[in-house]
Amino acid sequence: MASDTRYDGMVYNRCGRSGLKLPAVSLGLWQNFGHTGVYANMEAMVHTAFDLGITHFDLANNYGAPYNGSAEENFGRILRDMRHYRDELCVSTKAGYGMWPGPYGDRNGSRKYLTASLDQSLKRMGLEYVDIYYHHIYDPDTPLEETALALDNAVRQGKALYVGVSNYRHREMEEILGIFRELRTPVVLNQPSYSMLNRWIEEDGLDELCYENGVGLAVFSPLYQGMLTDRYLNGIPADSRAGRGNSRLAGELDAAMIKRLNDLNAIAASRGQTLSQMALSWVLRNRAVTTVLIGASRPEQIRENVKCVERLDFSEEELEAIERLIRR
Ligand SMILES: NC(=O)c1ccc[n+]([C@@H]2O[C@H](COP(=O)([O-])OP(=O)(O)OC[C@H]3O[C@@H](n4cnc5c(N)ncnc54)[C@H](OP(=O)(O)O)[C@@H]3O)[C@@H](O)[C@H]2O)c1
Repeated sequence: MASDTRYDGMVYNRCGRSGLKLPAVSLGLWQNFGHTGVYANMEAMVHTAFDLGITHFDLANNYGAPYNGSAEENFGRILRDMRHYRDELCVSTKAGYGMWPGPYGDRNGSRKYLTASLDQSLKRMGLEYVDIYYHHIYDPDTPLEETALALDNAVRQGKALYVGVSNYRHREMEEILGIFRELRTPVVLNQPSYSMLNRWIEEDGLDELCYENGVGLAVFSPLYQGMLTDRYLNGIPADSRAGRGNSRLAGELDAAMIKRLNDLNAIAASRGQTLSQMALSWVLRNRAVTTVLIGASRPEQIRENVKCVERLDFSEEELEAIERLIRR
């Protein structure tokens, strides 16, 4: 049984101008949910998240090791015991990166690939429909109209309730929004990377474009893959993502970065937060952001991170002090 108090502490934000609300903190299953992980730990993470009001779980066809799709298989197994909560859950999946051999499962945005992949994802998760179906990455070789129609078709077939795109820049987003508008497709999200150490969406203007067009942002790697936590304040621990060699960001952890993280940690402490909590609150201060998609390797990290919603306000002085440290 899930906790009776699961909705008491979480903040729910409307996805752009749609009717859909998402928790300010969502759980992503990219890493640590494949068959190379420990199943009991994955189950504990999903249960912990749900007990804390995290209703949104973000997947993709290719998540999981040692083979693509293993995260969806494990999530499907966890869902079997959570069936009676299906209507309290918002499940997202995606297709776009390379998934299976041959021309149809390659990195692309064709109707052929997106249609077949969604059927596979539904089977792996044991679901009749997903709540949000995304095209995972812009494909310059497929006409955008074809990709948009394939997503729209998933909705018309009842296999997805809403659609989104991920890793689409301003120009690409503007173009596909025009097509979705003509089709009247329920597009609710773009999913870009964004954090204190990665602000490309601000420079690109993607955040404002989405805000003005009533589309939300579900942002990934808001902790910069774990760097914006207390994990790396004294270097790289062996059991961390960077220590396991699973992060290409490890190369950025030089002495200057470690000093910067410690300075940010001091600001977080003065606000009564941990560094991870402040990093998430900072991302959520952007009015275009609906939800932060966190990853986790253990339930305690989720417990710590959701508390970011208790301190979403920043003073001008705090924002300026943070700005001085993160400007690169
Ligand atoms: N659309 C896309 O192209 C795309 C790409 C990437 C990710 N995503 C989505 O975004 C989700 C999150 O991405 P991400 O995993 O890179 O996000 P992240 O939240 O920036 O990093 C998560 C990692 O940080 C560490 N961590 C988290 N909380 C911590 C805490 N309180 N204290 C210490 N360490 C902590 C854990 O790593 P360790 O404990 O292992 O060190 C955890 O696995 C993915 O699961 C996926 O759903 C989407």
